[in-house]
Amino acid sequence: MKIFVPKEINPGEKRVALVPDVISKLTRAGFEVEVESGAGLGAGAGDKEFVTAGAQVVASSDATKAIASADVVLSVQPLSVAQFKSLKSGAITISFLSPTNAVENIEAAATSGATAFSLELVPRISRAQSMDALTSQALCAGYRAALVAAELSPRFFPLLMTAAGTVTPANVLVLGAGVAGLQAIATARRLGAVVSAYDVRPSSADEVRSMGATFIDLQLEAIEGAGGYAREMSEERAAKQRELLTPYITKSHVLITTAAVPGKAAPRLVTKEMYSAMPEGSVIVDLAAESGGNVEGSKPGETLVTEGGVRIWGGKDVPSQLPFHASSLYSRNVVNLLLLMVKEGALNIDFSDEIIDAAAVTHGGAKRVPGSAKAENAKATSAGAKDGK
Ligand SMILES: NC(=O)c1ccc[n+]([C@@H]2O[C@H](COP(=O)([O-])OP(=O)(O)OC[C@H]3O[C@@H](n4cnc5c(N)ncnc54)[C@H](O)[C@@H]3O)[C@@H](O)[C@H]2O)c1
Repeated sequence: MKIFVPKEINPGEKRVALVPDVISKLTRAGFEVEVESGAGLGAGAGDKEFVTAGAQVVASSDATKAIASADVVLSVQPLSVAQFKSLKSGAITISFLSPTNAVENIEAAATSGATAFSLELVPRISRAQSMDALTSQALCAGYRAALVAAELSPRFFPLLMTAAGTVTPANVLVLGAGVAGLQAIATARRLGAVVSAYDVRPSSADEVRSMGATFIDLQLEAIEGAGGYAREMSEERAAKQRELLTPYITKSHVLITTAAVPGKAAPRLVTKEMYSAMPEGSVIVDLAAESGGNVEGSKPGETLVTEGGVRIWGGKDVPSQLPFHASSLYSRNVVNLLLLMVKEGALNIDFSDEIIDAAAVTHGGAKRVPGSAKAENAKATSAGAKDGK
């Protein structure tokens, strides 16, 4: 069983799908691991470390051959259409695959006869927690968001009593208190800021408070959907939320936004009018900039300065800005998912396992509906019950 890890092709992507630390776990399970030369450099892992850990390093000129002969190809970003096309039939790929966007890539994966797994689709059940790359990467993004905000702010975050006078702490407001938001709260708190947060899911209130922050209760209807995620809200509800949040925003020195709704564009939480009333020197970090932006006008990868002196930082490839630990956590997620498919030293894709069923988007030369095995099973069980079987 051969694994190949190509160098990431997206510019700005510094993560690598496997770090040297996890190689021994794979070789013990019977895998041979090949890594493209330079694949780990952005994450602080050189070719030599991969070799010491038990992997073989393949020159970039041989990468296409290595993909074509691999049983498993692991990456962070989706493989390109050409890479998918060069896979051998029956190969497995694991990566983020943006099921709604990477349409051509998924088509190419299906044509090649590969089983392509999309880490976004790993279900959020207890057994799959160690494979949940959305969570591990959101953790990195949230931490980074607070550090970027502290760096861009002209103010201290903590309270300081000095001989030259007292420095009051920064007020940090976090919108969206999921995985990234909670980590941003924790990091800003560690730096000494006074933090408050809002989320449409009331279940996040206790988590916010447990981090030492204040939960803002707008007394609006909860927008909680399936699987612990938020749902899309109506424009009327969004407008009311913006109106009620405005006084909190104008009192903040730092605003960090992390709100997302799975499969939808990021909700617009903050308009130009709202941030125009923030004090000069205020900082906004929009982690949702790549998926449409929580903040009007934010641009992924850019820091804009408004006429009123507010800086707006639009996040782009944010987990990749913490490449060492983002790769380390991602590697563990990927290895745990892959090892689920190893039975008695061989690869075995078992769609009766709900994790495998939920995350595979192609198999046997065709696209497949993730979760279809479970749905079929449920149909058969209910038909059996009706027939009195
Ligand atoms: N294995 C598990 O059981 C598991 C793993 C990870 C997360 N979760 C749960 O899922 C929750 C959300 O996960 P996530 O961080 O990946 O979510 P996410 O990235 O989809 O969204 C981020 C946050 O934005 C919030 N949000 C959406 N619309 C908003 C709006 N209009 N205004 C304010 N906030 C808004 C969401 O409620 C969420 O908390 C977690 O807090 C946790 O409870 C469970």
